[in-house]
Amino acid sequence: MCGIVGIVGKGPVAERLVDALRRLEYRGYDSAGVATIYDGVMDRRRAEGKLFNLEKALDGEPLPGNIGIAHTRWATHGVPNVPNAHPHFVDGVAVVHNGIIENFSELKDELVAEGAVFESQTDTEVVAHLLAKYTREGLNHRDAMLKMLNRVHGAYALVVMFKDAPDTILSARFGPPLAIGHGRGEMFLGSDAIALSPFTNEITYLVDGDFAVITHDKLEVTDYAGKPVKRQSQISQAAAYVVDKGNHRHFMEKEIYEQPEIISHALGHYVDFAANTLKPQAGAIDFSKLSGLAISACGTAYLAGLVGKYWFERYARLPVEIDVASEFRYRELPLSPTQAALFISQSGETADTLASLRYAKDQGLKIGAIVNVQESTIARESDAVFPILAGPEIGVASTKAFTCQLAVLASLAIGAARARGTIDAAAEKEMIGHLIEMPRIMSRVLNAVQPQIEALSRELSRFKDVLYLGRGTSYPLALEGALKLKEISYIHAEGYAAGELKHGPIALIDEHMPVIVIAPYDRFFDKTVSNMQEVAARGGKIIFITDEKGAAATKLPTMATIVLPEVDEVISPMIYALPIQLLAYHTAVFMGTDVDQPRNLAKSVTVE
Ligand code: AGP
Repeated sequence: MCGIVGIVGKGPVAERLVDALRRLEYRGYDSAGVATIYDGVMDRRRAEGKLFNLEKALDGEPLPGNIGIAHTRWATHGVPNVPNAHPHFVDGVAVVHNGIIENFSELKDELVAEGAVFESQTDTEVVAHLLAKYTREGLNHRDAMLKMLNRVHGAYALVVMFKDAPDTILSARFGPPLAIGHGRGEMFLGSDAIALSPFTNEITYLVDGDFAVITHDKLEVTDYAGKPVKRQSQISQAAAYVVDKGNHRHFMEKEIYEQPEIISHALGHYVDFAANTLKPQAGAIDFSKLSGLAISACGTAYLAGLVGKYWFERYARLPVEIDVASEFRYRELPLSPTQAALFISQSGETADTLASLRYAKDQGLKIGAIVNVQESTIARESDAVFPILAGPEIGVASTKAFTCQLAVLASLAIGAARARGTIDAAAEKEMIGHLIEMPRIMSRVLNAVQPQIEALSRELSRFKDVLYLGRGTSYPLALEGALKLKEISYIHAEGYAAGELKHGPIALIDEHMPVIVIAPYDRFFDKTVSNMQEVAARGGKIIFITDEKGAAATKLPTMATIVLPEVDEVISPMIYALPIQLLAYHTAVFMGTDVDQPRNLAKSVTVE
C-alpha cells in the first residue's frame, strides 16, 4: 500500500515531506519520490528501495520550494524502479497515487493514439496525461481534475500539483484514505494522521467521492460534480502515540512485548475491573434478538474472527457464518436483517473487508466494526464501532492487534451470552475474571519462554516447510502461527485442524518438516496427542506447545516442549498466540529478513 504526503508550507518542504514519508514506511514500499515547485520550476527526485536512497539523492541535489508532494510506492503496475516511481510528471503536471486505476489501459490506448508518450509502465501516469490534455484544451485546474475524476474508474487516492499554481495542491479520494492536516498558515495532506502528527493533530478525513483543494490557509471540498460538501475536522489521537522502537530491534518485537500493557488498556474499554463485569457498550448491537451473526475479515483479522466464531457459538449459542472478505463479498450470501455482521480490521481500510461490509449493509444487517483506527472508513460506515485500542501497529505482521481483537471478541461473546441468557451472572463474573488476569499471565509467559524460543528458532530456520496443528480455538491459532511464520521468515508453513491430519497432510510427515502442535490440556487434548503419536511414528519432529498438565501427561519425544501456565479456555488463544508470534519473529531474525516490512507485503491492502 503506497504512502502519500503533501505540504503547502510557509518554508522549505522537501525535508519535512521525507520525514513524513518515514512515518508511512510501515505501509510497505519499494521506491519513493518527492516533487516541489520553486520560482516557476517544478522538479523531482526519485529513488528505488528505502528512503535512505531518496535522502541521498536530495543531499546531492537539494530541492527548494515551499510546496511539494511525496510518495512511497508499493508496486502494483510496473516493476519497482525509478521510471515507475512517483511523482509522475507530464507537461507541468505532477501526480502521486495510491490504489488502482482499473480502466487505465483503455485510457492509455486513447492517449497514445493522440500522441501521448509514456515514460512508465504505471497506471498512475494516465492521470497526469489526462490532466495535461484537459489543461491544453483550455480547462482550468479544477475543471481538468473534475473531468479526469469522472473518467477514471478504480480505487485511488490522487494528489496533484500544477507547475503554474505554486500555492495549490489538489486531491481526490475513492477508496484508499486521505487526511487533510490544518496548520498555522500552512496545510498538509497525507495517507493517515500518523504521517501528519508532527505538523498538526487537527485532521479532516476525506471520504469516497471527495475532491479537495488546499492552499496555505484553506480547504475546499466538493463532490465530483463540483458541488461543495462539508467535512468536519477532528483532533486525531495519532499524535499521542510515540511511534518508535524503544529498546527493541524491530517494531514487531516491541509490539509483541507491549501486549500485556496494551491488552489491559483495551479491556478497560469493555470490562469493569472492580466488579468483574462487562461495561454496557453504547449503541452496540442487541445480540439478544439475533438469529445469527456473520463475520468477515482478511488475514490475521480473519483468524481472530474464526476464534470468535467458536466463542459466539459455544457461549452465546449464536450461529456464525464466517468467511475471508475476498470470498464473502462475492458469494451473494443470503443474509437477513435478523442477523448482524461483524467486520474486523486493524487498519479499517482493507478493501475486501470494506466491500463485504457494504454488501452486508445492503442486505439490511446491523454492522459492527472491530477496528484499531476509529477514524477509518470501516469504522465510519458501521452502526457500532468496537475499538481495539492497540495503538499504531507498525510491524506489517499483526501481533498486538490480533490479541486485542481476540480480547474484544471475547468480551462481545460474553456480552452476547448474557443478553441471550445462555450464561448467568456468576459465569460472566468468572469469565471476565479470566480476561482480567490475562495481562499478568502474558507478561509471565513472554519472559518465561523467550530464551527457549530464541534457541529453538535457530533450529527452525534450517527447515523449508513447517506444519501447525490445533483443535477447537487452537485450530485458528495453528493457521495464525503458519501465517506469521510464512509472512516474515518466507518459510513455507501450513496450519491444519489436527483432526484433518489423516485426511492428507500426514503424507508430508518426515524428519524434514517440523510439526508445531498447539494443545492446552483441554477437552481435545487426548485426541491431539494421538495425532502427535501418528507424527512421531513417522519420524516427524514435534514442537509441542502445551501447559504443565499437558507436558506431564505426554511422554512422546519432541524437538521442544514449550510449557505455558494452565489457563481457562476463554483466554487460551491470547496466551498461546505469544509463543507462535515469538517463534515466527526469532526465526525471521535468524533468516535475516526485513521483519517489520517483509517483501511484497503491505500493512493494509487498500486495493483488491
Ligand atoms: C497479518 O499479519 C497480515 N499483515 C495481514 O494478514 C493482515 O492481517 C490483513 O491484511 C488484514 O489487515 P487489516 O486488519 O488492516 O484489515
